[in-house]
Amino acid sequence: MASSFLLFLLIFLSVSSFILLSESQKTSKPNRFVLQLQKDSKTKLYVTNIYKRTPSQKVPFVVDLNGRLLWVTCEKSYRSSTYHAPRCRSTQCSRADSHYCHICSTRDGPGCHNNTCGVMSMNPVTGLTAMSELAQDVLSIQSTQGSNPGPMVRVPQFLFTCAPSLLLQRGLPSTVQGVAGLGHSPISLPTQLASHFGSAGFAPTFALCLAPKGVMFFGDSPYYMLPNVDITRPLSYTPLIISPQGEYYMEVKSIKINDKDVPIDTALLSINKQSVGGTKLSTINPYTILHHSIFKAVTQFFSKELSAIPQVKPVAPFSACFNSKSFKNSRVGPGVPNIDLVLHDKHVMWRIYGANSLVEAAPGVSCLAFVDGGMKNNGASIIIGAYQMENNLVQFDMARSRLGFSSSLLFYKTSCNNFNFTAIP
Ligand SMILES: *[C@@H]1O[C@H](CO)[C@@H](O)[C@H](O)[C@H]1NC(C)=O
Ligand SMILES: *[C@@H]1O[C@H](CO)[C@@H](O)[C@H](O)[C@H]1NC(C)=O
Repeated sequence: MASSFLLFLLIFLSVSSFILLSESQKTSKPNRFVLQLQKDSKTKLYVTNIYKRTPSQKVPFVVDLNGRLLWVTCEKSYRSSTYHAPRCRSTQCSRADSHYCHICSTRDGPGCHNNTCGVMSMNPVTGLTAMSELAQDVLSIQSTQGSNPGPMVRVPQFLFTCAPSLLLQRGLPSTVQGVAGLGHSPISLPTQLASHFGSAGFAPTFALCLAPKGVMFFGDSPYYMLPNVDITRPLSYTPLIISPQGEYYMEVKSIKINDKDVPIDTALLSINKQSVGGTKLSTINPYTILHHSIFKAVTQFFSKELSAIPQVKPVAPFSACFNSKSFKNSRVGPGVPNIDLVLHDKHVMWRIYGANSLVEAAPGVSCLAFVDGGMKNNGASIIIGAYQMENNLVQFDMARSRLGFSSSLLFYKTSCNNFNFTAIP
């Protein structure tokens, strides 16, 4: 019985891949993809809808730049005729780096089978982890030529984990059903797109363009925003550093404010073998977090450069706040001293303008949008948060091990809200 089912499955899969193949041969094979992003106003996390299962269903996920995999809760309302949990010790399990046989006694259904493989899933906000069943199902994603979404394309056997719903319990928007990891790990979303579409010429690259209605691209540039702006043109590049955990780092060598060096302990700026120190990028932290000594230096320097402007009572979690009316607005936000992250070469800088350095934390109160990370020496010294990446294109290019960054797109009379989501059939 089981073996005839397997045989059927095999025939079905080879027929369906044959159909897919002949479909894609008709036109040029899609090798670039796009996902719409939405900022959740309460948690300030970024949410994307991904089409999964059979019949296809829209499932909302939080985007975790450093997440190792895509996990979803399956306990309730997981209906799909194409769900499959690979047996433990199968090739899929070794691909997911799982050497653990999962057993489950509560019920029989997605997420709960015996002799499948167990993988840890993590809530990136709380750090809570849970053993989950490795599974496969269809994932569909919209292709693009760079300026509009095109036809949907299927990945028939996308690997993910089925996590218990308690993992959703804190820190995440109530609307989401899981987390989509973009980390440099064996079964993350970009890695699986690369292995599935590699033969179609997919470049192992993805890019974030964060904004309340932002967008995320997979595959090579160019990418266009209305009114027909190639947002990859302003990119500068710095080496992309990947930690042993598959997280994305870059090398900040110093910080300048108003073109003057901020005195900071440069020992904190390099990452060591234990992934301590250095500068990580994150979509899970709404604002950039600085190690306490860097935080103190940056805040004091910024306030000194703005000493003509009186400070007002700070709004948590910030500590330097001003009356919003004190600043003249420019195209790139309130006119305040620029903050430059000086990278591997002293001429390569990620410039942070007022739109990304000040946030209106309460009506009429604008605060320096950096948060004190405390004195702990057990993680990155700088975690570049989502607010500092908003309306900047940030490209993670694995083939060339480089990080591309555009600085503020507002300069180019566009923003990350400006992707034309009118689909071209
Ligand atoms: C898994 O095996 C255990 C022990 O043999 C059994 O009690 C349980 O019902 C099984 N679970 C499923 C989902 O079949
Ligand atoms: C968006 O794209 C569609 C399809 O190409 C096009 O018809 C429309 O004019 C575009 N929108 C704008 C504002 O340019």
